[in-house]
Amino acid sequence: MNTAIQRAAIVFRHPTVTDAGRIWRLVRDSGRLDPNSSYCYLLLCRYYSGTCLVAEREGELVGFVTSFLSPQDPANVFVWQIAVSPTAQGQGIATSLLQRLMELPVYRHAKRVEATVSPTNISSRRLFEAFARRRGARLAISNDGFPAALFPEPGHEDEPLIQISF
Ligand SMILES: CC(C)(COP(=O)(O)OP(=O)(O)OC[C@H]1O[C@@H](n2cnc3c(N)ncnc32)[C@H](O)[C@@H]1OP(=O)(O)O)[C@@H](O)C(=O)NCCC(=O)NCCS
Repeated sequence: MNTAIQRAAIVFRHPTVTDAGRIWRLVRDSGRLDPNSSYCYLLLCRYYSGTCLVAEREGELVGFVTSFLSPQDPANVFVWQIAVSPTAQGQGIATSLLQRLMELPVYRHAKRVEATVSPTNISSRRLFEAFARRRGARLAISNDGFPAALFPEPGHEDEPLIQISF
């Protein structure tokens, strides 16, 4: 008998407004990401759905990534938030989300991925490092992100800029 645990396949797709609440909960429960209003995710799911993806397993939303093309530079993709539910982490889901994101036709002219990641968010750093390594891309970290002083709430960390150039 095959004793290996068979995991149901992950479905990757663009979000609809009915996903907004589940994305909002995933962010809230991550304990790592800045919380935003549920309205913010409704906006994203309606107007930026084409540059966002969700990962679903057996109907359960287990991950998502939100991104947009920079209005100033159409070669620049900004990855805003990415998260995978704790029970689904470590299975390559975030890596697949990033890979599939960059395969979208809307990003065919992209030359760079940007994101900001606080220094203590090791899993996120590792994710972007592994993504860059797999693509044979160069990763640079600079202070051109958002320094702590720009955040009105006390105790927010610096958000250095990560740039991955293809
Ligand atoms: C960051 C996050 C999205 C990674 O999701 P994931 O599906 O577990 O990531 P993957 O399985 O695709 O792993 C990607 C790489 O990161 C590494 N990694 C992931 N979590 C790690 C951890 N806690 N410590 C060290 N390395 C880690 C993996 O080993 C892998 O590298 P490899 O390919 O060289 O082995 C997930 O940990 C998460 O949701 N964290 C909370 C939200 C967050 O911080 N989001 C990022 C900021 S926007």
